[in-house]
Amino acid sequence: MSTQSIFCFLISALMLSFTPAHAEKPVSGYDYLLPEMQEMQDDEFGNPGMIAVDAGAALFSKPGENNKSCASCHGDGGSKLDIKNIARYPVYSIELKKPMTLRGQILICQNERIGGPALEYASEKALQLEAFVRRLAVGETINVDVSGAMSPYYDAGKKLFHTRWGQVDIACHQCHDYHAGRTFRGQILSQGQSNGFPGYRYTAGKVVGTHERITGCLTNLRAEPYPIGSEEYINFEVYMNARSNGLQIETPGIRY
Ligand code: HEC
Ligand code: HEC
Repeated sequence: MSTQSIFCFLISALMLSFTPAHAEKPVSGYDYLLPEMQEMQDDEFGNPGMIAVDAGAALFSKPGENNKSCASCHGDGGSKLDIKNIARYPVYSIELKKPMTLRGQILICQNERIGGPALEYASEKALQLEAFVRRLAVGETINVDVSGAMSPYYDAGKKLFHTRWGQVDIACHQCHDYHAGRTFRGQILSQGQSNGFPGYRYTAGKVVGTHERITGCLTNLRAEPYPIGSEEYINFEVYMNARSNGLQIETPGIRY
């Protein structure tokens, strides 16, 4: 970042500290996009995020080291997966006594049920599989249940979303709850919803998941990001996906 852009960032930060109205109803990042970006998302053949979805589809039917593929259990193209369930992630895993994200579940299946090759949470292939699986549920209404055993993780995620980060010393909710709709560094601030992810970041020229997107904002705030797949990011995801309840899955969204 140049000195000038740091300066602009801090001035904007000052302006942002006057916090007016609060956002209540979830609004998709899509609604804040320029019409040409909306068109790009809507066009299945022109949407650059579909490259990751297609790569995920190929992985889904590719046999693992024990000669089983994802499709052996979940049907060709995931036809036996219940898309309503996909819209419920993260869910509580009774066995592991913690929240399970969609990518986390895919990794268990990849690493144990098809016998590997074992993939890391942050790997491109894990992200492609997640993009493929989540795309199956495009248009499905997000429906995360954060009652019972999930509630402490939701609370922890909410706390993170309300924590002031980095040298810029602003919390996520100050930008994304209070200032959605305002222009910020040439972009229109959205509510920071997760329903478009995994999605294609126009400014980065690649597909990212929710964790990678949070890293983007933490880095801009000059805070130290957490590792992809970390407990903190999983708590963030629990809170953020629940905050997106009622919105439709848009994977792969086109976003800034
Ligand atoms: C041997 C059968 C088997 C294979 C192969 C398999 N899975 Fe699974 N998968 C399961 C079972 C059983 C579950 C139910 C959750 C559990 O017990 O972990 C599941 C759950 C899932 C879910 C969550 C579905 C829901 O309704 O909550 C997804 C998504 C998924 N698997 C993706 C994959 C992917 C991607 C692969 C390939 C890398 C794969 N699975 C390979 C058996 C399999
Ligand atoms: C200084 C303001 C600011 C703060 C604070 C901030 N962000 Fe952002 N965030 C942005 C901008 C700018 C974008 C890109 C435009 C948009 O979608 O809002 C963005 C985008 C996002 C998106 C993508 C939304 C979409 O639909 O594309 C998510 C998710 C997000 N932020 C999460 C977070 C989280 C989590 C935090 C706290 C760790 C955070 N943001 C803190 C400015 C901020």
